[in-house]
Amino acid sequence: MNFNLSEEQLMIQQAARDFAQNELLPGVIERDTHQKFPTEQVKKMGEMGFMGMMVDPKYGGAGMDSIAYVLAIEEISKVDASAAVVMSVNNSLVCAGIEKFCNEEQKQKYLVPLATGEAIGAFALSEPEAGSDATSQSTTAVDMGDHYMLNGTKNWITNGGTAKYYVVIAQTDVEKKHKGINAFIVERDWDGFEIGPKEDKLGIRGSDTHSLLFTDVKVPKENRIGEDGFGFSFAMAVLNGGRIGIASQALGIASGAYELALKYAQVRKAFKKEIIHHQAIAFKLADMHVNIMAARLLCYKAAVEKDEGKDISESGAMAKLYSSQVAMDTTIEAVQIHGGYGYVKEYHVERMMRDAKITQIYEGTSEIQKIVISRSITNK
Ligand code: CAA
Repeated sequence: MNFNLSEEQLMIQQAARDFAQNELLPGVIERDTHQKFPTEQVKKMGEMGFMGMMVDPKYGGAGMDSIAYVLAIEEISKVDASAAVVMSVNNSLVCAGIEKFCNEEQKQKYLVPLATGEAIGAFALSEPEAGSDATSQSTTAVDMGDHYMLNGTKNWITNGGTAKYYVVIAQTDVEKKHKGINAFIVERDWDGFEIGPKEDKLGIRGSDTHSLLFTDVKVPKENRIGEDGFGFSFAMAVLNGGRIGIASQALGIASGAYELALKYAQVRKAFKKEIIHHQAIAFKLADMHVNIMAARLLCYKAAVEKDEGKDISESGAMAKLYSSQVAMDTTIEAVQIHGGYGYVKEYHVERMMRDAKITQIYEGTSEIQKIVISRSITNK
């Protein structure tokens, strides 16, 4: 076992850190306040290879390993968790799924623009009545011979309003339950595809979350991903990897809040000394430091196992479950350490506390991660 990062990984980490400080930090409060999508910044992330980090260079990707991906997401999330989720969804839920499971023609048409950042992707699984219970899909795709007819509504879709291509999960045969589900690539400008209003969210307000409405959308047969009935397995496989991205986002939110709290505690004085010299504060920082390192190691473990081609359902779920809890705990304590200043926008930690919450909800709630983990240990 080796805990040293390679030169290339250190370079990516530094590039992401510089990008976050120089390009994301200046407008992050304004984007959060006004729910503004980081359009220019995402464009630059594409130019830097961050939108298709693990994709093979022959499809326009950066060809990095999953550790480099964790490092980049952590650095970006330290400053702007909204930009990080745009990146995570595009990389893990869209590019990774297309690269692994689509045919050559689909890859040339869709993966290349998505991996270069020329187009943004979205992943549409959740529905008004099917969030955690993902097998209960009401969106239908009826086989019409040469195409499918897609009807239904998807909810809370990240990149919903900005994406060009959408991976949409739909029921094609109700009788077969989850084995009658398929995944399709749907293009934004197809007739009958309508983007619903933008959600007004508690956190990650710079990201773009919408419902999607499909009314008699004609989806060509060649846009189905994999064999008939493969859609649910596809979604689960993609989400296993996606959870590493969200775990890394949570890790970044936690480490960003910790760094700010540490800096503040070193300069803020109370009772004639810097507050870091009060044990009540020092112990909080010690707990944060340990918990963040433990979360980081879980993220690294899942990332290494992914690159080794192992089943990462358990390790991805463990990383997400733990890191999202650490993000929540750390940001709450970071606000506490900042006192009154922590409660105002200028000091960033209140935003981080709001941003942290979603990491316990999307790409499988913490309760779902416990289902995945408990089933995995029961079946061993
Ligand atoms: N990896 C691989 N396969 C899995 C799996 C996993 N993690 N979990 C389940 N499966 C497989 C099972 O092996 C089974 O396959 P077979 O029938 O071939 O044996 C099949 O899927 C059905 O599984 P279950 O019988 O266990 O189904 P279930 O209904 O009891 O539970 C669940 C499934 C694990 C709870 C699943 O519904 C789930 O993961 N739900 C959470 C969905 C989710 O994460 N949504 C996030 C939305 S996306 C999002 O947030 C994106 C965004 O924009 C940020």
